[in-house]
Amino acid sequence: MKLQSFGKNNVAIVFGSSGGIGAACKRELINSNSFSSVIAFSRDENGFDIKSESSIKDSINQINSKEKIRLAIDATGFLQDNHQKPEKTFKHFEKNLALHCFHINAIGPLLLMKNLFPHLPRKGKTVFATLSARVGSIGDNRSGGWYSYRASKAALNQFVRTAALELSRTHPEAICVALHPGTVKTDLSKPFLKENNTAFAPDESAKQLLTVIDNLRNNATGGFFDWSGNNIPW
Ligand SMILES: NC(=O)c1ccc[n+]([C@@H]2O[C@H](COP(=O)([O-])OP(=O)(O)OC[C@H]3O[C@@H](n4cnc5c(N)ncnc54)[C@H](OP(=O)(O)O)[C@@H]3O)[C@@H](O)[C@H]2O)c1
Repeated sequence: MKLQSFGKNNVAIVFGSSGGIGAACKRELINSNSFSSVIAFSRDENGFDIKSESSIKDSINQINSKEKIRLAIDATGFLQDNHQKPEKTFKHFEKNLALHCFHINAIGPLLLMKNLFPHLPRKGKTVFATLSARVGSIGDNRSGGWYSYRASKAALNQFVRTAALELSRTHPEAICVALHPGTVKTDLSKPFLKENNTAFAPDESAKQLLTVIDNLRNNATGGFFDWSGNNIPW
């Protein structure tokens, strides 16, 4: 697919390019030939750690300042690992899991915004899109559970909304959004997918997200959208 709305000779960046969706976004952006360069950051590739502000700063400083950053996708995120599982009940709530989720899913992305936004061009369409999750919606919460992940994504959504308002004062054409990719077959979702699930393949998800991003206009800034471009309630 070709992205039409960004013009030529611009840079796209993917943070979290080792993940299922991040790697697919990177592939799709390279194949699209819509940007003069696609820069990818991950812990494995170049030590990018969203939990560390100095690592975020070092990564952004590596970007050639002569090129305009028109698109930045944050595809990092954490749901569970071998030791910590999403809580089905508040009886299983653990401070350490909550802190870890908030650190990676909310505080890290805001540190990224803090350090990246001063490098964005003040004129023309520029998009910062961070991958949130529908379960972060308070209005849409009908099933409960997953306290730490849900609340960390709700915090991320509030950070996105607040930062978007501030960014619009200096960068009136910039767009800062939270996107829900749908259920996508990746390491993050695998433990929860039933057989014969209808989850998206990562490449399919990347194409959908890039189509949503390409169609965003600046009145979308501060919004929370799903993979088909529909608004999700806060
Ligand atoms: N898959 C789904 O169904 C689904 C649904 C809704 C929302 N999402 C959201 O979409 C995003 C991407 O998820 P995914 O499914 O692609 O998951 P994934 O395959 O597990 O990828 C997660 C990514 O986050 C990175 N990451 C974790 N901790 C990090 C840290 N401290 N510093 C830097 N990078 C870190 C991982 O890097 P390493 O490789 O170094 O661990 C990896 O690149 C997440 O925010 C997730 O919440 C996914």
